[in-house]
Amino acid sequence: MDLAALRTKLESYGQEHLLQHYDRLKQEEKSAFLDELSHLDFDRVKRIYELSCEEANNSGEKQKTLEPIPESSSDSVASASDELKNEWRYAGLKAIAESKVAVLLLAGGQGTRLNVPYPKGMYDVGLPSSKTLYQIQAERILKVQKLAEEHTGKSCIVTWYIMTSEHTQTSTEAFFLKHNHFGLKKENIVFFEQYQLPCLSPEGKIILQEAGKIAKAPDGNGGLYKALRDRGILDGMSKRGIENIHVYGVDNILVKVADPIFIGFCLSKSANCGAKVVEKVHPTEKVGVICRLDGRYKVVEYSELSLELAQKRHEKGHLLYNAGNICNHYFTLNFLKDVVSNHEHELRPHVAKKKIPYIDDDGNSIKPLKENGIKLEKFVFDVFEFSQQFAVLQVVREEEFSPLKNAPGAVKDTPEMARDALCNLHYQYIVNAGGKFKSNDGKILPDISRKTVVDDSVDGSGRLPPVKCEISPLLSYAGEGLESVKDQIFHASQSTHLKADEEKNISNGNEKTSKVKEATSPKRRKGEDIL
Ligand code: UTP
Repeated sequence: MDLAALRTKLESYGQEHLLQHYDRLKQEEKSAFLDELSHLDFDRVKRIYELSCEEANNSGEKQKTLEPIPESSSDSVASASDELKNEWRYAGLKAIAESKVAVLLLAGGQGTRLNVPYPKGMYDVGLPSSKTLYQIQAERILKVQKLAEEHTGKSCIVTWYIMTSEHTQTSTEAFFLKHNHFGLKKENIVFFEQYQLPCLSPEGKIILQEAGKIAKAPDGNGGLYKALRDRGILDGMSKRGIENIHVYGVDNILVKVADPIFIGFCLSKSANCGAKVVEKVHPTEKVGVICRLDGRYKVVEYSELSLELAQKRHEKGHLLYNAGNICNHYFTLNFLKDVVSNHEHELRPHVAKKKIPYIDDDGNSIKPLKENGIKLEKFVFDVFEFSQQFAVLQVVREEEFSPLKNAPGAVKDTPEMARDALCNLHYQYIVNAGGKFKSNDGKILPDISRKTVVDDSVDGSGRLPPVKCEISPLLSYAGEGLESVKDQIFHASQSTHLKADEEKNISNGNEKTSKVKEATSPKRRKGEDIL
């Protein structure tokens, strides 16, 4: 498109300011910018902006027809009998053994709160092994494949789909390559990139970040659906015979990737869409809850729930709206196909007010101190409403959820907290298997869950300091297979790292120096990253 035609097009969309500094650009910058603007789908930007305005205007009505999830669609790991959990587990292992199960990692976030110059999955929270989040997940996949093979005698593949974004694509792929895909086969890991959306002013004008560059951000983890369709990922899944997909966020250090119990539970409910939740315990806890709105499944954000509703209790005593969403979902392939073909365009983007750097009318680069614009993001859970066969499994927070969101020293969701959550869980696995921990003065530490240990004499906070203790996922997926620790004594003051035979004498290559060295900013890939 030539400049004159582009100018006319921009005027028709009210975006003519995008060319206000065009004359200052060098010739090659002019062509690149012209090319970028010519390919931008302004209709889509307009539609998404209008949908986001509708969403903002409708949000007040959300509390009117709210209902909790029906009991027939949900269950809880804590209250289910061992027999039932085993039924789910075996059904899940069977599906995994038939290579019908894939896992899909959402790894396209910018991780602004953690604030490191590399993808969150490459973060090492300080475990004895120095393993990164990516490595922990890879090893859980290896282990669950092995468990399924042992259970059925069939060899299988759990394909790992990894959604990245412009911010994480290059460094994530390079990291996997450098680490030899952590023992997984390269062909069973499928990277694909989500799209971006322009950042807008509150009035819907695209923000010009530099004279020849518009401000853009990933289109949210709900950008998954457009990427699945437009990158041809669902067709690839069909070809591999995949039927069930476990979708999860990168930052939960405790995530049970391809959890056979969750898969089996969703299969037992004939669900086409499912979610793991943790119990919301305090009415003001900042967690979105899954409920039904006008008979459709939805996540209602904490800010959208009135205090009155948030405080309402079930006759059994728990909060009525207590299904805390943790970005841990199950979909059938058929459901995803239906969503991307019939509903993707209906997904309403959510507005996040942000400080977005821009160039002013005089050509000065400005870093605003206050929010000046909006990022439009779709959410992965926004498709729940298209399911009529939805299932919810409540899991135990200390066993399954500890997200890494913030930088060290913050009040919640920090690297230290993620590390301690994993160490505490693994301590419990060892104690459950008959191992014991001894303090320096020779006392055996209590063999009860460390989260409930109250002993003010120890650190004054009412909790024992965590023992640095880690079990390799290659040795145990969820506390099973630890018979050899029975009656073993471990020293609580020393770091314990239990490994599988195959990893003994192997360095995992994750020393901090090597991690920092490769933590370079991702390079911009040419083309097809936007819309
Ligand atoms: P968060 O909403 O916590 O965002 O993502 P974030 O990028 O990790 O962190 P902040 O908010 O910038 O500090 C929840 C999950 O969704 C993924 C993230 O990678 C994480 O696994 N995500 C988020 C995407 O894959 N794409 C996105 O556009 C946004």
